[in-house]
Amino acid sequence: MDAPGAQEYDRMQKIPKIFVRPAEELVEDLNHKRVQIEVPVIDLGGLDKADRHKQIAEEVRTASETWGFFQVVNHGIPLNVLDGMLDGIQKFNEQDVEEKKKYYTRDNTRRVRFMTNHDLFRSRTANWRDTLTISFSDPDQSDSKELPDSCRKSTVEYSKHVWELGNILFGLLSEALGLKPEQLRNMDCSKGQRLTCHYYPACPEPELALGIAKHSDPGFLTVLLQNQINGLQIFFQNQWVDVQPIRGALVINIGDLLQLVSNGKFRSNKHRVVANRLGPRISVACFFSGPINMDKVFYGPIEELISEENPPIYKEVLLSDYLMKFIAAGLDDNFLVNYFKE
Ligand code: OGA
Ligand code: NI
Repeated sequence: MDAPGAQEYDRMQKIPKIFVRPAEELVEDLNHKRVQIEVPVIDLGGLDKADRHKQIAEEVRTASETWGFFQVVNHGIPLNVLDGMLDGIQKFNEQDVEEKKKYYTRDNTRRVRFMTNHDLFRSRTANWRDTLTISFSDPDQSDSKELPDSCRKSTVEYSKHVWELGNILFGLLSEALGLKPEQLRNMDCSKGQRLTCHYYPACPEPELALGIAKHSDPGFLTVLLQNQINGLQIFFQNQWVDVQPIRGALVINIGDLLQLVSNGKFRSNKHRVVANRLGPRISVACFFSGPINMDKVFYGPIEELISEENPPIYKEVLLSDYLMKFIAAGLDDNFLVNYFKE
């Protein structure tokens, strides 16, 4: 967006044409029912007690098989760490544009990059947001000098916590698939971490624009931190369901790669972010997409989940190839179907 400053949005009455969705898309939206159902909320408290642990793994299984989404509470990350992360991203976005310009790039090999929509040149409509992405290949990565001053400390702190949570979740997801708790971790699913920090300014015509177009996440798992401004919606049973922000909670969703390695047992569900008259909406999606250094890393349906009754439905993929294809495509291009076995 080459983000105009916050004051410019305040004066803006109409959104520029590039953000306006095609008429047929707006009409299609009107035809979807809107109902009040809620994404499952899972309380991770008591995970170290055997019977509670089993119950939690069961809740994770049900949610992953149906919604592909759930929220977690009592996840162990302190509220001040969550608030600090969101504040840092707000400060980064609302500082002088000259300072932000230092991070402008579309070079995916850069560890820190700031841009508007990654698919800007391929999508039909631009989305109403700017994004700062920071990759971590190791939780103890001491070299944080490259990170912007405005959010360095809070990001490093949050990253360590979300790493631990990621490992807990991959343990639960393995168990929920009927595998040993360490199986997904041993496959390096929790190795690399991309913090994708979105800033959705207040929008004067929210019914015409989207914050993020409908898509599913390409990686294994996403842990999403959001502030209290609504926007995230999941496409579930042919309707858009709002994910109500719960203070202190995190939204967890299954990505395409986990759908692939689970041979379709877990669902990577489509979702989007609608624009809002209120803002800014700030969110931090932490994508676990396998090792950042991904030379010769392959993923396919897990052997233990394959049998005569359950033949593999997906092909094996080369991770680097797979992620490059995702980046090169528009967000709304249906992706995982390209990897069906037949
Ligand atoms: C994403 C995403 C949702 C949000 O980054 O893939 O779906 O609430 N984000 O920002
Ligand atoms: Ni997403």
